[in-house]
Amino acid sequence: MKLNRRNFLKTIGIGSLLVGLVGQLYTWIRSLFPNVSYESVRRVKLDEPDKIPDGVTFIDDIKAYIFREGKTFYAISAVCTHLGCTVKYVGLSKPKIVKIGGKEVEVKWEFHCPCHGSKFYGDGTNYAGPAPRPLDWVKVEISPEDGKLVLDLNKTVPQNYKLTV
Ligand code: FES
Repeated sequence: MKLNRRNFLKTIGIGSLLVGLVGQLYTWIRSLFPNVSYESVRRVKLDEPDKIPDGVTFIDDIKAYIFREGKTFYAISAVCTHLGCTVKYVGLSKPKIVKIGGKEVEVKWEFHCPCHGSKFYGDGTNYAGPAPRPLDWVKVEISPEDGKLVLDLNKTVPQNYKLTV
């Protein structure tokens, strides 16, 4: 075949079209396998204990609240035990006395679920709405490598598990 100007331009055009189509195809196939991990975070390392603020702090990475009361630390999962929405910490304007497990307890805050209205006392005990059980307590420990606080959802702990440092 003689390659005249018309055939040359036609060949370049078809070649460019094919390269473009292959590029599009590659991009589309690549988009099916994104470079992200969908594994949920189960363990986070925070800061040294004395750098954690007193009171309550929400740890977004693992959806948990960590509480500091002086040298004592504990953490409660913010994952609602109904269908997994994130419960909100609600400070009470006036503490109230409630019965939990037959004992009278003073409650200064609660957790409310925005999805279907479940409510939990400050220790995670469910008392209203469809949630079938209390919020989980999250293991709090000190990292042996650097002394920082670690929250680990992989290790279940009983309600009222607290770490004093
Ligand atoms: S997910 Fe919390 S009440 Fe339904």
